[in-house]
Amino acid sequence: MPHLLSASDLPLPQMLLRIRAWEEKRARGRDSRQGLLEQALPFRAEGSVALLFYEPSTRTRAAFEQAVVALGLHPLVITAESASVQKGETLADTVRTLCAQGVVGVVLRHPEAGAAHAAARVSSVPVLNAGDGAHEHPTQAMLDLYTLWVHFGMPDPASHWLAGRKVAIVGDIAHSRVARSNLILLTRVGAEVWLCAPPNLLPAATLPGATLTPCLQEALQNADVVMALRLQRERMEQGLLPSLNAYRRDYQINAQRLACARPDCVVMHPGPLNRGVEISDEVADSARSLILKQVHAGLATRCACLEYALSPHPESGAV
Ligand code: CP
Repeated sequence: MPHLLSASDLPLPQMLLRIRAWEEKRARGRDSRQGLLEQALPFRAEGSVALLFYEPSTRTRAAFEQAVVALGLHPLVITAESASVQKGETLADTVRTLCAQGVVGVVLRHPEAGAAHAAARVSSVPVLNAGDGAHEHPTQAMLDLYTLWVHFGMPDPASHWLAGRKVAIVGDIAHSRVARSNLILLTRVGAEVWLCAPPNLLPAATLPGATLTPCLQEALQNADVVMALRLQRERMEQGLLPSLNAYRRDYQINAQRLACARPDCVVMHPGPLNRGVEISDEVADSARSLILKQVHAGLATRCACLEYALSPHPESGAV
């Protein structure tokens, strides 16, 4: 069954083209299903998709909810506050319950790393990981990659189209599911990936394909793309960072710091933003910012991800 648990599960050239198709459909402003599904994989456009959001979300939840509707399905939104998890029900039992009620897919946002894999083990329908703790956020990485693909002129999606480009991801790398999933996709298309954080927020082990550094200047030098990550305030409480001011002083992405990047360098951020902490207002709102383009791509990306995961796949024997 084609669960989407990791960025490595994404069929890359195909996904870029399908997201583009959904974007074009949206731009034409026609009915969200008519016509597009003619080009789509054979699709079972019936039933409900459970959106289990056990952690706050604006972008991911809103995009998945709209994408489910665009595919002709019904979104069944369940949050931790409103679910029987409050009565002690396990995630596995919740997933089994929803499957027994006939949902056709489960989208899961959960604070614990590995929760999406745990859900997939007991689910009879595809599970899509909408962010699990510090582990992965594959659909975010997919929309980030799509945003870059469009920015660089939609080169051959099957090629190493980011070869020769330097991408610097800056922030709390050790706890970042966005960095982890982005690294998987960026290296698949040939990017040189630098991961930069204060020493306490760098991963303990090396990450294949990435250069790790605590030196921001080194990471930003000649970068084509800079992605700032949200700084979680709990890192201060955990004693991993002295203060927000220290982070702002040493790691904030601002116009002065970007002077050593390439002149045409673009800036990304998965959101939500801590304006004035990891990114300055000036940069977040500048012409080089792709942040709202990332958000825009989020809907078409979730349409393509749902379409892929929920379509019958011959190799699964479930056509
Ligand atoms: N980027 C992201 O996952 O944002 P939300 O937490 O608002 O979904």
